[in-house]
Amino acid sequence: MKTPQVKLYYKNVMDEMLGKEHGITKEQLNELAKKTNPFIEQLNSQRKAGKIRYRDLPYQTETVESVKKIAGEVKDCENFVVLGIGGSALGNIALQTALNPYMYNLDDKQRKGCPRLFVFDNVDPTQIKSFLDWVGDKLDKTVFNVISKSGRTAETASQFMTICDMLEQKLGENRLKDQIVATTDPKAGTLRKITDKFGFRNLEVPDGVGGRFSVLSAVGLLSAAVCGIDIDELLAGAAEMDKKVSITDFYQNPAAVNAAINWHYYTRGKNISVMMPYSYELKDLSDWYRQLWAESLGKTKDINGNEIFVGPTPVKALGATDQHSQVQLYREGPNNKLFTLLAVEEFGSDVVIGNAPDIAPELAVLSGQKFSKLLNSEKVGTEYALLASKRPCLTVTFDKVCPHTIGQFIYLFEATTSIAGMLFNINAYDQPAVELGKDATLALMGSKEYSDLAKKIKPFEKMDSRFVI
Ligand code: PA5
Repeated sequence: MKTPQVKLYYKNVMDEMLGKEHGITKEQLNELAKKTNPFIEQLNSQRKAGKIRYRDLPYQTETVESVKKIAGEVKDCENFVVLGIGGSALGNIALQTALNPYMYNLDDKQRKGCPRLFVFDNVDPTQIKSFLDWVGDKLDKTVFNVISKSGRTAETASQFMTICDMLEQKLGENRLKDQIVATTDPKAGTLRKITDKFGFRNLEVPDGVGGRFSVLSAVGLLSAAVCGIDIDELLAGAAEMDKKVSITDFYQNPAAVNAAINWHYYTRGKNISVMMPYSYELKDLSDWYRQLWAESLGKTKDINGNEIFVGPTPVKALGATDQHSQVQLYREGPNNKLFTLLAVEEFGSDVVIGNAPDIAPELAVLSGQKFSKLLNSEKVGTEYALLASKRPCLTVTFDKVCPHTIGQFIYLFEATTSIAGMLFNINAYDQPAVELGKDATLALMGSKEYSDLAKKIKPFEKMDSRFVI
């Protein structure tokens, strides 16, 4: 049987579809190939030299064994709760939405004996209180996976401390190690220190892999494995895409073509990248992509230290839902966007649309047809409408949504990000602006370590009444 594939389709950015003003000519594409080809080779060499560590994640057999071992130990719990934020949460959410049924948490049958999954990536007191009220008498059947490379991220640390207190009060300190799995830095950091002291089961956030590139490490794999997702297939898909995105011929390399087209449009005023899946299952992949793209490519300086203030703005949308919310703007507003539509050829299941009432014969056209046909027609229809307004559209097609294709997609967009970073001439792997916000939060919460920073921020805490209406 043919392995399901993810493919990039780019005809709808070409001048034959959009005209010369908004489309890419063959000559321009050849120029893009010339510019991008050396970066493919450079990336391959950096990767061989061990400098692009996320590229090796599909082959980490030891990690996979450790993940499976811990997943086997905790899988009889009723609730599995991830505490993490940013790169320590978005991948977990995306995998769960893509690869488990919509009613997973509510329907025991659809869950097939796996625990419910909750991912807490915020510190909203009302959300947390509601969860704590619910989970309070189920703690012995609940396992918490705290994920933080540093252990000092205020959001994750405060959730973690709250849960530890609750576990201690209700079950006793000696039960902490049964109910907590830590995923953190192998050697250093606050969470490593705590993990070692309390003897938590633990997994590693691999060295040299930033949060937003870490979903195929233990960070994303444990919750996936616990929830019954085939992580071997996920990694096999990523490994297959690794081969494609290493191809040095631009025209055969989907990451290179994707990155180059994105860069081309950014440099011509289309600086907003909309990702619009036509599949609910793929919805949270756009959230994951949004972080990947924004944190990696939004930079003040190029690699030589020159100020450039660069970075496409990623926007998530969902087909068909956002056709009734965004498409008016997308078609008639400024032509400053590149659209990446995600389409599924074969849905995992299908439903036939019900009968039209006799008094509404105008609805009969829908009756008896499949929802898959309706959703895919919405995709093609919207793409047609966007093209009619000269808006460039890429499509990523999934033969079907399964661990193999999700692994491919993740790896394709990670490699795209690396190549785009090279085209923009920036460091795609740091996030200095995120770090300042983290320090500032700790400063405002009273950390002595950041007292100087706190003095600078204090004036911002109170609103200036002159400007409040
Ligand atoms: O991509 C990143 O590096 C960030 O989004 C981090 O994942 C996020 O800030 C969480 O950091 P940590 O894992 O240290 O708690």
